[in-house]
Amino acid sequence: MFSYSSVSLFTLLCSALSYPSVFPTSNSTNSNSTKCRCFPGDDCWPSQEEWNNFNKTVGGKLIATVPIGSVCHNSDFGSFDEEACRTLQGHWPYPKTHFESSSSIMAPYFTNYSCNPFSKPDAQCTMGNYVSYAVNATGTEDYQDTIAFVRKHNIRMVIRNTGHDYLGKSTGAGALAIWTHHMKDMELIDYKSPSYTGKAMKMGAGVQVWESYKFTHDHGYTNVGGDCATVGVAGGYTQGGGHGPGASKFGPAADQALEWEVVTGTGEVLTANQEQNQDLYWALSGGGGGTYGVVSSLTVKVYPDLKSSAANLTFPFEGTNNESFWDAVETFIHESPSLMESGCFAIWSFDAKEGFRLWPTNCPGLPQADLQKILSPTLEKLRQHNISHKFMIDEFDTFYSSYQTFNARHEISTTIQGSRLIPRSVFDTNFTQLMSIYRHYVAAGLSVAATANNESMQNFPPTTNSVDPVRRQAVFNSMMSMPLHPTDHAINQARYAEMTNTYLPLLTNLTPGARAYMNEADYQQPDWQKVFYGENYARLLGVKDKYDPEGIFFAVTGVGSEQWFQDRDSRLCRVR
Ligand SMILES: Cc1cc2nc3c(=O)[nH]c(=O)nc-3n(C[C@H](O)[C@H](O)[C@H](O)COP(=O)(O)OP(=O)(O)OC[C@H]3O[C@@H](n4cnc5c(N)ncnc54)[C@H](O)[C@@H]3O)c2cc1C
Ligand SMILES: *[C@@H]1O[C@H](CO)[C@@H](O)[C@H](O)[C@H]1NC(C)=O
Ligand SMILES: *[C@@H]1O[C@H](CO)[C@@H](O)[C@H](O)[C@H]1NC(C)=O
Ligand SMILES: *[C@@H]1O[C@H](CO)[C@@H](O)[C@H](O)[C@H]1NC(C)=O
Ligand SMILES: *[C@@H]1O[C@H](CO)[C@@H](O)[C@H](O)[C@H]1NC(C)=O
Ligand SMILES: *[C@@H]1O[C@H](CO)[C@@H](O)[C@H](O)[C@H]1NC(C)=O
Ligand SMILES: *[C@@H]1O[C@H](CO)[C@@H](O)[C@H](O)[C@H]1NC(C)=O
Ligand SMILES: *[C@@H]1O[C@H](CO)[C@@H](O)[C@H](O)[C@H]1NC(C)=O
Ligand SMILES: *[C@@H]1O[C@H](CO)[C@@H](O)[C@H](O)[C@H]1NC(C)=O
Ligand SMILES: *[C@@H]1O[C@H](CO)[C@@H](O)[C@H](O)[C@H]1NC(C)=O
Ligand SMILES: *[C@@H]1O[C@H](CO)[C@@H](O)[C@H](O)[C@H]1NC(C)=O
Repeated sequence: MFSYSSVSLFTLLCSALSYPSVFPTSNSTNSNSTKCRCFPGDDCWPSQEEWNNFNKTVGGKLIATVPIGSVCHNSDFGSFDEEACRTLQGHWPYPKTHFESSSSIMAPYFTNYSCNPFSKPDAQCTMGNYVSYAVNATGTEDYQDTIAFVRKHNIRMVIRNTGHDYLGKSTGAGALAIWTHHMKDMELIDYKSPSYTGKAMKMGAGVQVWESYKFTHDHGYTNVGGDCATVGVAGGYTQGGGHGPGASKFGPAADQALEWEVVTGTGEVLTANQEQNQDLYWALSGGGGGTYGVVSSLTVKVYPDLKSSAANLTFPFEGTNNESFWDAVETFIHESPSLMESGCFAIWSFDAKEGFRLWPTNCPGLPQADLQKILSPTLEKLRQHNISHKFMIDEFDTFYSSYQTFNARHEISTTIQGSRLIPRSVFDTNFTQLMSIYRHYVAAGLSVAATANNESMQNFPPTTNSVDPVRRQAVFNSMMSMPLHPTDHAINQARYAEMTNTYLPLLTNLTPGARAYMNEADYQQPDWQKVFYGENYARLLGVKDKYDPEGIFFAVTGVGSEQWFQDRDSRLCRVR
């Protein structure tokens, strides 16, 4: 059986958790006034007949949620099934278990443990924060029908693709979801517009990173996608900016976006690109998922596939002299900007349990010998200090084979996390302080991880999309994490408070004015509007209000979400 205590740091990036008592608790009672969305049990909640009619409207694609953990409990959803439960527990860490479901999410903190497969059979199994229903969408008509239904009945709506979101954006109590997972069309096209002429890939909203990599590779091209193979391309990933193996060389995912097909909050089907509906194009390309409309397809730039090198490196903390360990880590981090400048992407992490890991660095277009040279000061330190280590380096004819060979499989989030984008300037002025904060984290039992990209791409016109220009000054995204308790929500809430109030501020104070990556952040991030969206916030809010005037789309820390809060039962209500 899978046990949380054995989860390695490797799970950190493909999973970081949070719980949903998330929202400012406020005074509002469970009123079902129009101030709040209609909730199951309210008189205004649609009758069975209305749901059945809606199901007919969407061609039988309506799914009533049965929490996947229900096989582990005796509840209204059925009875405990020992074998099915054991199988689910075994498969729980894998993203597939969740993205194939119309309701399950990968950040258990936000499930409220309402139907936790790791709690006792007689422990509760309720709907909790899972969506009540989902439409297994195949196109814009399903989107329009669903939006019309939620507007008519004042129901909360959620857009969900994979359920990867770390901040609880792709779930919600009492919600009807548009589930985009099965919209898998992919097409290589010749795109022609005043701003770009060349090869492009048009993909449906459900396409996942690995599918996009395989598709472009099969046609002799490559594209920007995440390190994690199972993240969806067109949803939260690209809309939130998106980093990954190609992003140092070609720019973040949002810079690749040429055109979005989207259904707005009023049910209009629009095409947004640099020539039409530019404001919507600008907002969707970097302004956050689940906010401005439901995307049905995304068209992105592709690049001829290219020779690539990659490397990974591990060395232990335990059994290594502390000062030697830190000297090697410090050398690696200090030299890491050379990786980014050379077009590499890197994921590295360290803690007292797993030691240091570079897992891996991908360098599209860089010869192996050059990569070896960049890593040599670190390797030299390891030899000097006689630290036993594992180092692999190789060169490939294509980016795809490099990715296939070196990139680790990701698991879901079993951590509580906070993060900060570390600006280049810290290397010149406060590097020593940065390293002492890292020592402090490790001594306190935290794990530190980073995803490193040069997102500056100084030839990219900064006003084309809403990727915050300050964010582009970052050398890496520093993520800190603590393990999530497998069954006790109260303990997790306390740990989250520690992350937000004690640990995260150390990096915030070191980097005044810096940002955090909205897709891999602390959902309780203070001043999140500025920290996630920068100076673009006010303009993004204008676009939000224009295309979603009724606030149909709500996502935790999404633009405009400060106008809503979640009540005691997690019902969504307007602040005013
Ligand atoms: C294991 C793991 C690995 C990760 N690796 C990377 C990485 O390598 N690089 C990186 O940049 N990020 C990474 N992330 C973060 C990732 O970018 C975010 O979790 C992102 O939100 C996932 O998008 P999704 O659409 O797949 O997920 P979902 O959880 O389904 O959706 C996320 C958000 O996007 C919205 N959304 C989804 N589809 C649509 C749509 N069609 N139209 C409008 N809104 C939509 C949802 O409403 C929600 O707000 C990782 C996360 C995890 C858990
Ligand atoms: C909530 O209610 C308490 C007591 O009833 C009151 O003191 C407080 O000001 C209220 N807060 C808000 C935000 O209305
Ligand atoms: C919701 O509104 C109905 C009237 O439409 C009322 O009868 C019911 O008690 C309300 N429910 C709650 C929880 O306030
Ligand atoms: C919707 O209709 C289909 C086909 O008739 C059916 O299989 C499915 O169970 C229905 N969904 C709900 C929620 O009733
Ligand atoms: C989430 O959990 C808290 C306490 O554990 C509870 O008060 C709240 O009602 C739960 N929310 C849902 C939607 O189950
Ligand atoms: C969702 O629809 C797809 C076809 O678009 C189908 O293959 C799949 O089985 C459906 N999933 C569920 C859970 O209904
Ligand atoms: C990122 O790349 C740009 C060139 O596009 C270069 O000028 C800049 O120095 C690089 N930044 C970092 C931190 O490596
Ligand atoms: C290096 O470490 C090995 C064991 O890991 C030990 O046998 C050897 O003596 C050490 N050499 C030096 C120079 O410290
Ligand atoms: C390093 O990469 C090799 C493939 O070249 C892989 O077999 C190994 O598991 C990787 N090690 C780590 C720690 O990721
Ligand atoms: C090394 O670090 C560990 C964990 O932080 C600590 O327990 C130990 O005392 C340290 N040893 C030395 C020699 O500093
Ligand atoms: C960072 O460095 C600057 C310039 O050296 C200094 O003024 C500032 O106090 C430092 N910040 C911290 C938190 O050490």
